Amino acid sequence: MFFIRLSQLNGMNYTIPQMKTGRKDKTGFFSVRRFRELTSTNDVLKKLAEEGAPEGTVIVAQTQTRGRGRMDRTWISPRGNLYMSVLLRPDFPAKDMLKLTLLSACAAADAIEKTTALKPTLKWPNDILIRGKKVCGILCEGSFAKNALQYLIIGIGVNVNTHPKAYGNAFLIEPAALADECGKKLPLRLLEQTLLSSFLSHYRDAKKRGLFTALEKWSARPSTLHKEVRVKTSLREITGKAVDLDANGFLIVQAKDGKKVRIMEGDVAHLS
Ligand code: BTN
Repeated sequence: MFFIRLSQLNGMNYTIPQMKTGRKDKTGFFSVRRFRELTSTNDVLKKLAEEGAPEGTVIVAQTQTRGRGRMDRTWISPRGNLYMSVLLRPDFPAKDMLKLTLLSACAAADAIEKTTALKPTLKWPNDILIRGKKVCGILCEGSFAKNALQYLIIGIGVNVNTHPKAYGNAFLIEPAALADECGKKLPLRLLEQTLLSSFLSHYRDAKKRGLFTALEKWSARPSTLHKEVRVKTSLREITGKAVDLDANGFLIVQAKDGKKVRIMEGDVAHLS
C-alpha cells in the first residue's frame, strides 16, 4: 500500500490508501483497485488509462465526492452503493460506443436480476429501472483516434443499500435503492463480482459475434421499446412510441403524426 494525494476536501488536503496494483477478480480478466473515497471513479480511471493502464483495469470506490452522470449531472454517491469504472481497449470503431453502453446496461441488468430476483427495465440509453424508479446509471466515456476507440471507460453506479435521496435532490428520475425494493441489504462485493462476470461474458460474445448482439440483447429485455415516450433532445421535444433501435443503437420514435424520428441524444421519459 502507498498513499496518493488526490484532491482537497473542505480546504484540507487528504490522502487515501491505494492498492499499488489491482487485485484480480474471480474471472482473472479484471484487475480491481479499491478506494475509500474518490472524486469520480471515471476521472481516476481516465488518468490511469492515459498512463497506459491495461484493458480490464477496474476502479471501485466506497464514495465519490464528484460522481458524474450523463450531461455532467451529479451522481449522488453515499456509502453503501456501488461505484465502479471499467477500462476497455476494444478493437471497435468510435460509432460502436452506444452499443457498448447498451451492452453494459444488459450486463448490469443481468447482475441485478441474479442477485436480487428483481426484474429490471432498461431505459434508453443508459438507465436501469425497478418499478419505474432508477437504480442504476451508466456513463461511457471514450477516447478516440481518428474513427477508432483508443479506450473506453464504463462507469456504473448502482444504488444498492443507501437511498440517494437522503443525500441530495438532483434527480431527473425518481431514484430507488435495490435494498428497499427487495426488502433486504445486499452484499456489495457479490453484486460487483456478478456484474464483472456478466459484463465479461457479454463482451467476449460481442468480440466473437459482433456488436449487433448488444442490440439483440438490449431489445430482448423489457425496455423503452414499445412504450409511449416523451423525449427531450437539445433541439426539441417529441412524444410518440419507441418502435425500434437502429444499427448504431439510436432510438427510433414514431411521433404522433406518424413520422419516424431517430433519437441520437436527450432524455427519454416512459409514459406507459
Ligand atoms: C447516469 O445515469 O447519467 C450515469 C451515472 C453514472 C454514475 C457512475 S458511478 C461510477 C462512475 N463514476 C462517475 O463519476 N460516474 C459513474
